Amino acid sequence: MKILVIGSGGREHAICWKLKQSKLVDTIYCAPGNGGIGQIAECVPIVPGSSGYIQRLIHFATTNRIDLTVVGSELPLADGIVDHFREANLKIFGPSKDAAIVEASKVFAKRFMLRNSIPTARFQVFKDAQSAVEYVRHVSFPVVIKADGLAAGKGVIICNRIEEAIAAINNIMVERIFNEAGSQIIIEECLTGEEVSVLAFTDGEHAVQMLSAQDHKRIFDHDKGPNTGGMGAYAPYPGFTPQLYDLIQKDILEPTIQGLREEGRKYTGVIYLGLMLTSNGPKLLEYNIRFGDPECQVVLPLLETDLVEIMLACMEGRLNELDIKWKHLSALCVVLASGGYPTSYKKNLPITGIDEAEKMKDVTIFHAGTSIADDRIVTSGGRVLNVVACGDNIPQTKKLAYEAASLINFEAVHYRKDIGDRAIETARVK
Ligand code: AMP
Ligand code: GLY
Repeated sequence: MKILVIGSGGREHAICWKLKQSKLVDTIYCAPGNGGIGQIAECVPIVPGSSGYIQRLIHFATTNRIDLTVVGSELPLADGIVDHFREANLKIFGPSKDAAIVEASKVFAKRFMLRNSIPTARFQVFKDAQSAVEYVRHVSFPVVIKADGLAAGKGVIICNRIEEAIAAINNIMVERIFNEAGSQIIIEECLTGEEVSVLAFTDGEHAVQMLSAQDHKRIFDHDKGPNTGGMGAYAPYPGFTPQLYDLIQKDILEPTIQGLREEGRKYTGVIYLGLMLTSNGPKLLEYNIRFGDPECQVVLPLLETDLVEIMLACMEGRLNELDIKWKHLSALCVVLASGGYPTSYKKNLPITGIDEAEKMKDVTIFHAGTSIADDRIVTSGGRVLNVVACGDNIPQTKKLAYEAASLINFEAVHYRKDIGDRAIETARVK
């Protein structure tokens, strides 16, 4: 088969890497790809979000007889790429635009959770800044304020005091710092507990959870500093018991898939549940409509079953016929970022040591913000490389991942030193 993967991050590198292991796959293309993806796939210079990109991808897929397209990020899905590809008789893995609304609109997602009795934080929706400000004068803090719509993971603000809440409301609704995503906001109860990402494959009828994972969103150790796209992850989460799997399946995942189907929004693809494990059980913070980044980079290396077979089963409505198998190992990912990320940082800096790190047993390097200049790999983004190690347990994978990370260098490289520590602590307390 010829496969086209859409995207350019560490997640898409991991997807290409896993697809490449399938006996069903002959050639992989990736649009637009990155410096590392180019070593295992043919990069195609079409960038999601650029003018006419869906039509250009359809043209590419048709003329190159692509058998299956896999979408990495949410933007093309929210833009309806799946509907357009299907109209052109092209096979594509991911939810339709109608189903993609669960990530594209947080207001839709929260109301959907409510009408399907899916446990989530209590919330109110506001369409104008004045009534939102009036409301926060009478709530207890902290509260969480969320812009509706896609805001590249930055549209959620946790406010500890009224002044912060008023500033957040003004920034989102009046200044429109997230553009149209600021036309409505959600103000919700702040939940506490461990945050866990549970991704699932679904064919619209059945849903199978992948191994659980934990992301590390803040830039600095001990969860300090601003949020980022993700500075590291590990899988599986040590507190994830079979009982928790069943609870999430019964109370969250199945009502989601069934509710969407009943509302005429049948969902196929990967669905991501962002969960808070509270003292009152798991509560759903958000849906994403695709693999998480960097969760994907630790979950896919543990997948035993052929990913193409799973994707085809999802698209053909026969996921229940598959027995999806996982390795009984742990995986851990350390993200190497450009100094200054998530604000401003330098680009085009030469990177050394990737080859040495890649030679290490049980270590894989997934590229994110890299490109090739004069035959050398250089930085081209905020999150640059994902160093992933696999091993029998988290302490062992942590040691291995950091040994590999220490071999790689570029000017002002920054990475967290505590990825995995919470897992080690959770396992110790249990
Ligand atoms: P979301 O995009 O909705 O997942 O929000 C981004 C991040 O904000 C989450 O990963 C949580 O860390 C945090 N968050 C969102 N909603 C809540 C909430 N109700 N209580 C506490 N933290 C939250
Ligand atoms: N790791 C969070 C996300 O992919 O949205």
